[in-house]
Amino acid sequence: MGLNEVSYGHKPVLINTVEKYCGLKKGDTVIDCTLGLGGHSEMFLKHIGAKGWLIAFEQDENNLKIANERLNKNKNKISIYNDNFVLLKTRIDELKLKGADLIFFDLGLASTHVDAPERGFSFQNDGPLDMRFDTRNRLTAEEVLRKYSEKRLEEIFKSYGEERYAKKYAHIIKRALPITRTKQLADLIQRFAPRQKFYGKKKLIHPATRIFQALRIEVNKELEVLEDALRQAIRILKKHGRLIVISYHSLEDRIVKNVMRDAAKECICPREVPKCICNHKPEISILTKKPIQPEEAEIQQNPRSRSAKMRVAEKL
Ligand SMILES: C[S@@+](CC[C@H](N)C(=O)[O-])C[C@H]1O[C@@H](n2cnc3c(N)ncnc32)[C@H](O)[C@@H]1O
Repeated sequence: MGLNEVSYGHKPVLINTVEKYCGLKKGDTVIDCTLGLGGHSEMFLKHIGAKGWLIAFEQDENNLKIANERLNKNKNKISIYNDNFVLLKTRIDELKLKGADLIFFDLGLASTHVDAPERGFSFQNDGPLDMRFDTRNRLTAEEVLRKYSEKRLEEIFKSYGEERYAKKYAHIIKRALPITRTKQLADLIQRFAPRQKFYGKKKLIHPATRIFQALRIEVNKELEVLEDALRQAIRILKKHGRLIVISYHSLEDRIVKNVMRDAAKECICPREVPKCICNHKPEISILTKKPIQPEEAEIQQNPRSRSAKMRVAEKL
């Protein structure tokens, strides 16, 4: 067991594959948009050496502190921001940075979020219905349930949770208010959920899983910032610089796939135009035609990696 696993939880997701694709060399500049506990960044620092520069974003103050302690023993130049990654371009302009050799996103939550009941992300352990990555923000999951209309809750459960029973759950939640604890919400959903069947070998998930996902995405406005940040990242990359994104659910992966596909297009003329007139130039080439997923051994060691999908593009 390596130092990473002893001190900082699981090995970072797809670490060997990220290392293979990162294309880093001594003196390079890396932007880690989701620093987390600093696992991937620790590996990047080895590649860029003492002359390299790591710029990182992490909106969770606790994770940022852990990562800072882990990384600051290095002699590299490191700039860490307790910011949402949607501020990528703003911070890069302030730093007067010319461009980056790698921009990396490992989306979603960290193990520290799931393991801390008081953060309200987990329905396995009871805690307040919070779910904020950044505790400076005001909106919590409890407030979403209390303040949003039944219709709006239904839409969120449908679009962010892809929940088949969105209407039913929105209705029973509104009738059961106040709901302030994670267990209270999970038990309520479980009580009203239709009995699940196994489909082939597919593992059953807790019926509240999609509701929790939807609330987390809404509280942290996760999808709203992603597309914007990815487009900023593509602009900031140097020629031959790489964009690596790991996502954990289909909604995120769809955004990543579409942004990369649009930026890689040769032509953006409408279909009805017989000959290209747009003069559009592709900005990137996609290096992973299909997303890369972890092997079974990694999934056994770290079940959360099961849903990971990694896509890579290179700036032209
Ligand atoms: C999966 S973890 C990253 C783990 C990290 N790669 C490591 O090796 O430890 C995702 C992290 O990104 C942070 N995060 C998620 N969305 C963010 C955003 N929009 N801006 C900044 N940080 C974000 C979360 O707080 C979490 O700590």
